[in-house]
Amino acid sequence: MSQFAPEIEIRNLNVFYTSNKKAVGALKDISVNIPKNKLTTIIGPSGCGKTTLLKTINRLHDIQDDVRVEGKIYIGQEDIYHPDHPVPELRKRVGLVAQRPYPLPASIYNNVAFGPRLHSKLPKQELTEIVETSLRKANLWEEVKDRLDSPAADLSIGQQQRLCLARTLAVEPEVILCDEVTSALDPISAKEIEDLLYSLKENYTIVLVSHVLRQARRLSDYIIFLYLGEVIEVREAEEFFLNPQNEKSQQYIQGAIGGGDYSRF
Ligand SMILES: Nc1ncnc2c1ncn2[C@@H]1O[C@H](COP(=O)(O)OP(=O)(O)O)[C@@H](O)[C@H]1O
Ligand SMILES: [Mg+2]
Repeated sequence: MSQFAPEIEIRNLNVFYTSNKKAVGALKDISVNIPKNKLTTIIGPSGCGKTTLLKTINRLHDIQDDVRVEGKIYIGQEDIYHPDHPVPELRKRVGLVAQRPYPLPASIYNNVAFGPRLHSKLPKQELTEIVETSLRKANLWEEVKDRLDSPAADLSIGQQQRLCLARTLAVEPEVILCDEVTSALDPISAKEIEDLLYSLKENYTIVLVSHVLRQARRLSDYIIFLYLGEVIEVREAEEFFLNPQNEKSQQYIQGAIGGGDYSRF
């Protein structure tokens, strides 16, 4: 990865969950670079720390007081854990799409307009243009253009997930974090999201969490393989799948250690 200027630099990151008396380390001394305008997938067995790692990239743990984060993360060379770093600005630069779609209890239009309204006061026409552009980028416009005022909850779950992506795109992020975004979807809706992520990766730095190896292989430029909270291997995706260097990576790809969905690999 060293040939690329990194967009995200993670240095000596440790994360502890402190809800029990004894703090439990979920991520152990993670140092990794994530390149700009590429798609990097974090893979690894269930419970290895994928979601925890993803959440550190937009400081989502800030809202929980039973999590301790140590170490540094730089995005575009800015230290995002610096006490003076503006968190609302960070959340605009780094969007997150969750495993299940959580549209706001509002219309399709207002779901997409929510972020832009939060960040600036725009004339109605400009806002409407942003809504249309974002829905087009998320491949949803044609399906919803005649019912923008309908409740988002009326959409199918696959459409809702594309709506959540449109909502993220509406604030023009640099980085898009996606946590198992197809796992709640039927195969056709999942394929639509995959195609969408593939088309977006030239213009955004995308960090995906996936346990579907076929998906990781099809979409990714880079792979970060996590195991028990540690980075085991970071490599170009094709090299990782053809010729994994670490024994644990080999075992994971072969299905000898748990968590992966090998059926579709
Ligand atoms: N809120 C929490 N409190 C305590 N432990 C947690 C919490 N969230 C996650 N963990 C633990 O941290 C580890 C990593 O979890 P997670 O990042 O969700 O893994 P993954 O996404 O790879 O399945 C697991 O052992 C999990 O049980
Ligand atoms: Mg997870």
